[in-house]
Amino acid sequence: MAKRALLCFSLLLLAEELVTFRFEVELIKQLSLKDKSPNCLVSPFQVAQSLSFLYLGKDGRKDYTLAKALQIVGRGHDKIMSYFRETQQKALAQNFVIANRVFFKSDFKIPSYMKSISENISVEVENISFDNATKAGAEIKKWFSKVVAKSSKLFGKDHLNNITQMVAVQGLSVTTTWKYRFISQSKRTFLIERPEMKPLQQKVAMMYTLAKFESFNNEEVHGIFIPFSNTDIGLLILIPKQHITTLNVIQQLEKYLLLKMRKAQETHFFLPMFNIQESMDLNGILETMGIKKIFSSLNNPSSLNNNPTNESKTTHFEQLSIFSVKPNRLLLESEYASEGDQKTFEVNRPFVFVIKDQRTIYMAGRVDSIDDLNKRP
Ligand SMILES: *[C@@H]1O[C@H](CO)[C@@H](O)[C@H](O)[C@H]1NC(C)=O
Ligand SMILES: *[C@@H]1O[C@H](CO)[C@@H](O)[C@H](O)[C@H]1NC(C)=O
Ligand SMILES: *[C@@H]1O[C@H](CO)[C@@H](O)[C@H](O)[C@H]1NC(C)=O
Ligand SMILES: *[C@@H]1O[C@H](CO)[C@@H](O)[C@H](O)[C@H]1NC(C)=O
Ligand SMILES: *[C@@H]1O[C@H](CO)[C@@H](O)[C@H](O)[C@H]1NC(C)=O
Repeated sequence: MAKRALLCFSLLLLAEELVTFRFEVELIKQLSLKDKSPNCLVSPFQVAQSLSFLYLGKDGRKDYTLAKALQIVGRGHDKIMSYFRETQQKALAQNFVIANRVFFKSDFKIPSYMKSISENISVEVENISFDNATKAGAEIKKWFSKVVAKSSKLFGKDHLNNITQMVAVQGLSVTTTWKYRFISQSKRTFLIERPEMKPLQQKVAMMYTLAKFESFNNEEVHGIFIPFSNTDIGLLILIPKQHITTLNVIQQLEKYLLLKMRKAQETHFFLPMFNIQESMDLNGILETMGIKKIFSSLNNPSSLNNNPTNESKTTHFEQLSIFSVKPNRLLLESEYASEGDQKTFEVNRPFVFVIKDQRTIYMAGRVDSIDDLNKRP
């Protein structure tokens, strides 16, 4: 009985901790259904952070629809803010490069309450004129290139125009810093099964280490967790087995995130070196998740009920993520000798990856094509 009560208690604690975890998993699922590019990645944490800022930033009556979509109904505002503060600090300790800013059209007077929330939740606010959308786009890109990276991928042709009211931009660049020392290895075969065709086989540059890793292996997926240095953040890799696709795995992501890992075992581990950069227009996804009319809700509470403009045309959410996987130091090829009965885990097929700790998904994506794997960081 006491044991049971204790279990319930710890489950409650866990639920308390997972401030935006369910939102993050849902976002990844929706994106993977929509984004058909062979390799994709997203930073769900930053979307949650930006939306939570817009939620908390409104003085007075809050936007319930937004809270519901974020799955933070009933959470204390201090708790939400301290969650983001701690998570942001941890990401910085891990040397993640982060940008998160909301631009409002210049005739929207940014309330001082919102400015205070902005600082507390680490999402910047700025005003900008959209009269000349080309100029506004160029200014935003200039800011972005200073903070994260220069990118031609940001903002498609019709994303900004002279009726734009709000643009939320996020950027995250993760360069791996491993707990265990990886060394570069010679090229090894990467295999992609294709329906009704011969599998595609290609050599890609891999790196290698021998260390103790937690892993699991069931009928569907082979998984391994590779810790980063500095914090408890790490990289979870999920390789689907033959009858399963990376998309299938993502559609059941929470299952794999909650799976209990086997105790860490000495493992020869091979991982391709790569660099993926993706921009993501989030408008459609957020609408699918029930998030609409954020700006009109902020600007004018009564406009929640009548709909003067089609808001999906006047607000824009966009994100750019970069993931560089490389060894701690580039050394020349090492000898790899498989000895005795040690395990080998080789990431040599399409896979899903999740950069995470116990309660946050910093970045997630899938690699279904070799193209980016041949782009060395
Ligand atoms: C817009 O930003 C500028 C510079 O930060 C500031 O001087 C100005 O007061 C702002 N305008 C509004 C309406 O908030
Ligand atoms: C922001 O944080 C400061 C310091 O923790 C606190 O005093 C202030 O009330 C917070 N602002 C809001 C709007 O919650
Ligand atoms: C808009 O800004 C761009 C770049 O600053 C400039 O080249 C262009 O002439 C401007 N367009 C108008 C209509 O003012
Ligand atoms: C906005 O741009 C359109 C053409 O793209 C133009 O017809 C319209 O007059 C512009 N509106 C304002 C307020 O500048
Ligand atoms: C608003 O615009 C979007 C994109 O153009 C469109 O898909 C959607 O159906 C429109 N919604 C309404 C209510 O008109």
